[in-house]
Amino acid sequence: MTSRNEAGIRTAVFPVAGLGTRFLPATRAVPKELLPVVDRPLVQYAVHEAVEAGAETLVFVISEGKESVAEHFRPDPALEADLAAAGKVALVARLKDILPEGVRVEVAYQPKPLGLGHAVLCAREFVDESAFFSVLLPDDMILNDGPGALAQMAAVHARTGGGVVGVEAVDPQMTGSYGIAEVDEGEVPRITSLVEKPAPEDAPSNLGVVGRYILDGRIFSLLEDLGAGAGGEIQLTDAIAGMLGDHPVYAGTLAGTRYDCGNRVGMLKANIDYALANPELRGAMLDHLRQLDLDD
Ligand code: UTP
Repeated sequence: MTSRNEAGIRTAVFPVAGLGTRFLPATRAVPKELLPVVDRPLVQYAVHEAVEAGAETLVFVISEGKESVAEHFRPDPALEADLAAAGKVALVARLKDILPEGVRVEVAYQPKPLGLGHAVLCAREFVDESAFFSVLLPDDMILNDGPGALAQMAAVHARTGGGVVGVEAVDPQMTGSYGIAEVDEGEVPRITSLVEKPAPEDAPSNLGVVGRYILDGRIFSLLEDLGAGAGGEIQLTDAIAGMLGDHPVYAGTLAGTRYDCGNRVGMLKANIDYALANPELRGAMLDHLRQLDLDD
């Protein structure tokens, strides 16, 4: 069951308006964020993490045609009643766990995929700008057996009072695929510069940004004034870079293993590892893996 941190980050934004081209043709009619890892869609894991960290309002930023992402979270009392009548108690519990009571869903539209920063800006009307809120990219998944990634970051926020960006050390040759953070040597490292997708020779470090952020409302005016950055997109990292001088933003190193489910290999690895982490499935998965002839 999803437990909730009562003193946590109340609003969570899920930018899910992207095109998902790397999963075509699977994503022609099914949004990438609804592709499953084991038995639940990517976005449900991210929602679980946000609720664990205290979210009461979930804002899905979608594009036209991706309404099913929010639909997934609509309660279905008739189905629950049918399953309960058939004695399928475990299934009812699984359905109820999709969206714990008291958590509200809002939908914002991004008219065109102009970039992650633009998607976050589209959520503005649903965000209390006087408080910190979170942004979660469902295709970054973090598996661990302790507190979830956002809960770990909420603890950094509670300690510092500042913004927090999730980071992990990445292959120095791969900096061109990430936002890259430079940090100071504080006990909780503070981000001193942030650059989107630098070439390895220009990267200030190999600390890559993971798709988890705790930010406050000041980000919106920065996003409003921002032009297109790397890849011709309005980049969230550029807006965060613009606030570093005035407002502390800390690097939250996340305990656990991260899977980039925005690409096929990452998605396949996540399916294997999440299945192995599931006590109901582990035995059968191990049997199968042991039988594979893994020589080339
Ligand atoms: P990606 O960079 O993975 O892009 O976005 P994408 O469009 O989903 O997938 P590809 O590259 O075409 O395969 C990371 C996250 O940011 C969201 C996406 O939905 C995803 O959750 N996003 C990206 C938006 O909401 N709007 C955008 O304009 C861009």
